[in-house]
Amino acid sequence: MQIKTQEIRTNLGEAVRLGFSKNPKSISSMFLYDAEGDRLFQEIMKMPEYYLTRCEEEIFHMQKEQILKEMQVFEEPFNLMEFGAGDGSKTKILLHYLLENGADFTYYPVDISKHILSELAYSLQQEMPALKVHPMNFDYFDAIRETTHLNNRRNITLFLGSNMGNFTREQAVDFYKNFARESKTGNLLFVGIDRRKNPHIISQAYDDPHGITAAFNLNLLRRMNREMGADFDMEAFRHYSFYEPVSGEVRSYLISLKDQQVYFETLEEQFFFKKDELIHTEISKKYSPEEIDRLAEEAGYKVLCHFTDERQYFLDSLWEVP
Ligand code: TRP
Repeated sequence: MQIKTQEIRTNLGEAVRLGFSKNPKSISSMFLYDAEGDRLFQEIMKMPEYYLTRCEEEIFHMQKEQILKEMQVFEEPFNLMEFGAGDGSKTKILLHYLLENGADFTYYPVDISKHILSELAYSLQQEMPALKVHPMNFDYFDAIRETTHLNNRRNITLFLGSNMGNFTREQAVDFYKNFARESKTGNLLFVGIDRRKNPHIISQAYDDPHGITAAFNLNLLRRMNREMGADFDMEAFRHYSFYEPVSGEVRSYLISLKDQQVYFETLEEQFFFKKDELIHTEISKKYSPEEIDRLAEEAGYKVLCHFTDERQYFLDSLWEVP
């Protein structure tokens, strides 16, 4: 299967130069996902503490008929896009059902990680040989441009898991406005959202006792060592993450445990880290259903319906481009 590839516009080198000259230092969370990061994130998804995956799976298993009925997928041919598809484990629940019930569609998984995309393409070929798949190794912004005018079929775009949570609210509104502007009337967005809940439950999901989340976050530095000839001392940084229940944001950081300097061969440049200095790596924002309604309307969509799990930890929301 051919994977459509486009140069990812933001490269790691530029991100380091830019992010490490800011205060506090920061790196976009999209760089967490190299082959090792993909593997660690799959481990995270298996942890009991990381309830998000199980909740969304439950929604798909229990409510797939209703979800697909609301999407009107059996009425006419359509394109099924997925932004940040990853290993597609949850999407496969819907794909199986669509195939079994004779829906006419092509699946376009989009992901920043070429590695996970080729794994996904391979596993789909094995599990669902009849499925039409066009994988795209793009970032979200190129993906919007490339997927909104593919053909004259209706687009249904999935944006699952906690992908959207990685935007601030403001970034999310901009992203969805842009998406709506490029989309045809009647196109649908199906968005996964982690709900506000007891802060203890959320904190655990982002700072597990097994150390997997820490390893995942620290892999960013390891990646720089591998790809950029950097000399990060892995013992001299520590993962820190905390949930702030008023803003609804989990923020993840790497803390420098001492004064130190790190040299990057590929940049021929040195960066200094003070003791206790932070590198911000990710935000993971949580929403209430009311906040979601407001956000979707502000971005110019009509909210069709919400689907939630038994414990009401997670929510999938279906929006229409008016
Ligand atoms: N996108 C995932 C999320 O927000 C990724 C993630 C899980 C993550 N745990 C993390 C990213 C810890 C950085 C640090 O849920």
